Amino acid sequence: MSPSSLTRDTKTTMKTSLAIYPGSFDPVTNGHLDLIERGTKIFDRLVVAVLRNSEKDPLFTTTERVEMLREVTRQWENVEVDVFDGLLVEYARQRKAQVILRGIRAISDYEYELQMALMNRKLEPNIETVFMMPAEAYSYLSSRLVREISQLGGTIHGLVPPIIEERLKKKSRK
Ligand code: PNS
Repeated sequence: MSPSSLTRDTKTTMKTSLAIYPGSFDPVTNGHLDLIERGTKIFDRLVVAVLRNSEKDPLFTTTERVEMLREVTRQWENVEVDVFDGLLVEYARQRKAQVILRGIRAISDYEYELQMALMNRKLEPNIETVFMMPAEAYSYLSSRLVREISQLGGTIHGLVPPIIEERLKKKSRK
């Protein structure tokens, strides 16, 4: 083996991949968790990054969303939950992430996601957006619908983890 190929091999072995999975997560759903699980298998480390104050009137505070995410991702050692402000690519750069992970459920997500991915690439060409598809069973699932159904008294069983179901029920009772 030549010294140059040895250096190359060492570099390859030592490289660890870090992906950022950004979102509002108001609240985290089983669809998000499905994607997180898929992400843990592909990347060495996955940072689930909650955008602070993503909506004018969120159901859960940023602190609550982070707390819930930490609870339901505890089983994966390579997952970290964090909060970010401002530009996503700036945060990804600071974290030295190579990848932004996003989920695409249906073709209707594609246009918005493509626009964001291309704009993020324009802002930071060294960070790649990787799209993954959650399981088909979650293709119609969104945090917005979960919030709405829960607040109108419908059942969200099976759409979110049990502890999130409980937190949603508590919110609706208030
Ligand atoms: O779960 P969401 O609401 O679909 O996530 C959207 C999110 C947080 C990924 C997006 O709004 C975002 O990246 N916001 C940070 C501000 C930013 O970088 N805007 C430029 C995007 S091209």
